Amino acid sequence: MSYKGFTREFGALLVAAGLTGMMVYAHAAEVAIQLPPEVNSFKQDVGAEIANAQCLICHSVEYITTQPKMLRPFWKAGVQKMQQKYGAPISDAQVEPLVDYLVKNYGVVTNAPGAVSPGTASQASADSGKNPADGPGIATKYGCLVCHNVSAKVIGPAYRDIAAKYKTDAEARSKIAEQVRKGGSGKWGPVLMPPFPQVSEGETAILAQWILGLK
Ligand code: HEC
Ligand code: HEC
Repeated sequence: MSYKGFTREFGALLVAAGLTGMMVYAHAAEVAIQLPPEVNSFKQDVGAEIANAQCLICHSVEYITTQPKMLRPFWKAGVQKMQQKYGAPISDAQVEPLVDYLVKNYGVVTNAPGAVSPGTASQASADSGKNPADGPGIATKYGCLVCHNVSAKVIGPAYRDIAAKYKTDAEARSKIAEQVRKGGSGKWGPVLMPPFPQVSEGETAILAQWILGLK
């Protein structure tokens, strides 16, 4: 579906380029990355009317389209944040249809890390105590590494940079635990980290210990 959308847009781009009489044929690859101005409305689908009416009051559609393709809890938390923290006038009855729409059009329904069988990895880490060496395994299990890398910024900050930021902060562990449990944005930029309430306290402690120990 998105592939079809892409070819259509690409076709429109070529037509537009042709109409303006640009000498595109010699530089087709360069022209192709000059995207047309973003249209300030949501993709047509069930629920788009709610998003168009409710989400463009305060900001442009890019706030939604530039988010990583995320699961339902991310979008639900996002909509509730807009509603509760920023005072977006969304009625409670609109929340679920709106989240359905956002997940379908700008998110994903399932992803591989979430599909890992829940029992085994947490069992193993619970049994082995608080060993930071388990950090990478837990981070993989919950999909943290989709957005984070140890040494480079991806969607979220590099874990090494987080360790550096918290080097002298005695509350680092509880702040990291809070970030994992509740998600959030604004500490490193506008992109929202989704909440991970499914990560156990023990696993969170291991993750925090591992991240803070990175140099
Ligand atoms: C009442 C104003 C308002 C409305 C209405 C609103 N937002 Fe926001 N939104 C904000 C503010 C303020 C920010 C934070 C801006 C910043 O950090 O630059 C934001 C940021 C965002 C972000 C970026 C991530 C984040 O949490 O900072 C997303 C995603 C988002 N909004 C989605 C939505 C969606 C979906 C809707 C429709 C349900 C919506 N917004 C409606 C005020 C609003
Ligand atoms: C969808 C992408 C995404 C996923 C998945 C994700 N994060 Fe993040 N993470 C972010 C973003 C974006 C930020 C920056 C948020 C901000 O600016 O406040 C962040 C920030 C953080 C921080 C820094 C908090 C601080 O206080 O400065 C930690 C620690 C963290 N993430 C750990 C994790 C762990 C552990 C997981 C897996 C359980 C995880 N993240 C999964 C995107 C993600």
